[in-house]
Amino acid sequence: MKSLSLAASVMAMNHSALGDEMRASDAAGIDLFHWDIMDGHFVPNMTFGAAALRDLRSVTNKEFDTHLMVTNPAQWIDDFAKAGSNAITFHAELDDLDIIALAQKIRAHGIQAGLAFNPDTPLDHVPQDVFAHIDRILIMTVFPGFGGQAFIDQSAKIQQAVLLKQRFPHLCIAVDGGINLDTAPIAIKAGADLLVSGSALNKASSQADFITAIKQQAIAAGALA
Ligand code: DX5
Ligand code: ZN
Repeated sequence: MKSLSLAASVMAMNHSALGDEMRASDAAGIDLFHWDIMDGHFVPNMTFGAAALRDLRSVTNKEFDTHLMVTNPAQWIDDFAKAGSNAITFHAELDDLDIIALAQKIRAHGIQAGLAFNPDTPLDHVPQDVFAHIDRILIMTVFPGFGGQAFIDQSAKIQQAVLLKQRFPHLCIAVDGGINLDTAPIAIKAGADLLVSGSALNKASSQADFITAIKQQAIAAGALA
């Protein structure tokens, strides 16, 4: 039986009260927390260091899903793993990328490794064999750097990732960027296992209703029995 998970993007929360905001999303029924880590080089924005995760790790038992938008992920993996990440994702677009070495460095901490693809990066940008070392494909439905951007339909790429699961059944397909109640069904119908929502979840008058509505969409799409 297939299930759909929903992650709250911490970047979209009020940074003056992250603990309270995360507790509220936790109580509303969010499945996990998505941390957007930006270094001002890979993307033109900066967000959190590992100390933020470490200090907020105790506010929830839910998973911390760390999305590294940084030029040198090898430099940061150990810090973000020790801070309490349950998964760490890096980008396929990086130069001189040794995907297997990075994935092994992440998995050595006993956590999951993810590989992210920008909207203009096809899955075959990387050799297919690397997916044996990857737990999660993160399909970006915005160009990374900022919350609140419009969803870019990546249904074809999500469907290709679903086909990849025939060879690598362990893969989780995550979709990140511009997810709201109108766009979530597009990603769900294409085959997403995990959706990330920032601004739409944050702006919802009831986060619990927002989460329930997306789970209902998954049931309607036959993703959840
Ligand atoms: C974009 C980030 C996303 C973003 C999602 O660079 O990777 O995770 O925070 O936020 P919304 O849902 O506002 O697009
Ligand atoms: Zn993200």
